[in-house]
Amino acid sequence: MSKTDLQKKLLNRIEKALQELDLPGEPKTLYEPYRYALSVGGKRIRPMLTLLACGLCEGDINDALPAALAVEILHNFTLVHDDIMDSADTRRGEPSVFKKWNENTAILSGDVMFADAYRQLGYYAKNKSFSKDEYAAIHEVFSKAIITVCEGQALDMEFVERRHVKHEEYIQMIAGKTAALLGAALEMGAISAHASSQKRSQLYELGYEMGIAFQIQDDFLDATADPEKFGKRPGGDIFEGKKTYLTILALERADKAQAALIQDTLNTDDPEAEKVDQVLDIMKSLNVLKDVSEEVDQHYKKAFEVLNKFTPSEYQQELEKLLIFLQNRDH
Ligand code: IPE
Ligand code: IPE
Ligand code: MG
Ligand code: MG
Ligand code: MG
Repeated sequence: MSKTDLQKKLLNRIEKALQELDLPGEPKTLYEPYRYALSVGGKRIRPMLTLLACGLCEGDINDALPAALAVEILHNFTLVHDDIMDSADTRRGEPSVFKKWNENTAILSGDVMFADAYRQLGYYAKNKSFSKDEYAAIHEVFSKAIITVCEGQALDMEFVERRHVKHEEYIQMIAGKTAALLGAALEMGAISAHASSQKRSQLYELGYEMGIAFQIQDDFLDATADPEKFGKRPGGDIFEGKKTYLTILALERADKAQAALIQDTLNTDDPEAEKVDQVLDIMKSLNVLKDVSEEVDQHYKKAFEVLNKFTPSEYQQELEKLLIFLQNRDH
């Protein structure tokens, strides 16, 4: 899909603002990993959502930029720490921060990114067009999202140690680790446009549905995507014993022998590639991949329904295009 003029304009604003963060040169082991984490080509979906939500609520895009930066820096911080937690050696086709440097360096650079993300919100305290309540709201939405992400990440790790995880438990986990920040990205954009509480909650809901779909797709792509495009190790979740939507559905449908093979592979520290392939074949034979795609579409459908409640505008159209792009994504 070729980029529209509005999309190009907003992406340029985001990249420029990220560059203008003007990070110090020293200490090198703190700021080089920070710069690296932000520079190696992410999709910039979250800051884009913040700017689009602001435009959708007829706000001034300049006012949404600090929130957009906060969200993108925070997202990249979560990835730096997530790769340690998931022992993931590659991210966006390049070595992950802890592999390129080491774990301690990744922990500390992540910490400084976390603080820098919060610092962006100072704009809403200092800028006179924002009331105290609006500043408090943006601070609360951001903080709540981070806490929810941590809760989701904790469940993600707890589930590795468990044999059985229910469908609802999995949804609760991804609602935390992924959907909460997408919801917050949109709601923060709405607050930066001084939008009503009704619009704020509608946009949060849109982000939430999109986030659930997005993470189920991430699980799907983890098992099926072209590693060149996806930039992460194929089958990485199975290697790590993660409970994903795919493994949960497969275990529900598997016969005894299939279930034993799946459990055994998930519980082995470093399973042979051949076993990982067998698990993927079982998933295919049980129609898991097809049903997962349907679940993804249902969540995007809900997101489209919320979007259609907004008055048509170029921002609404752009958000619709972004949803369509995400629905068809391969990376
Ligand atoms: C990766 O998010 C982490 C998940 C929540 C699945 P993205 O796929 O948005 O990561 P980048 O920033 O585009 O690399
Ligand atoms: C990511 O979940 C959630 C957060 C980073 C908060 P994953 O562990 O599935 O993300 P990837 O696959 O490493 O990008
Ligand atoms: Mg993870
Ligand atoms: Mg991970
Ligand atoms: Mg993943």
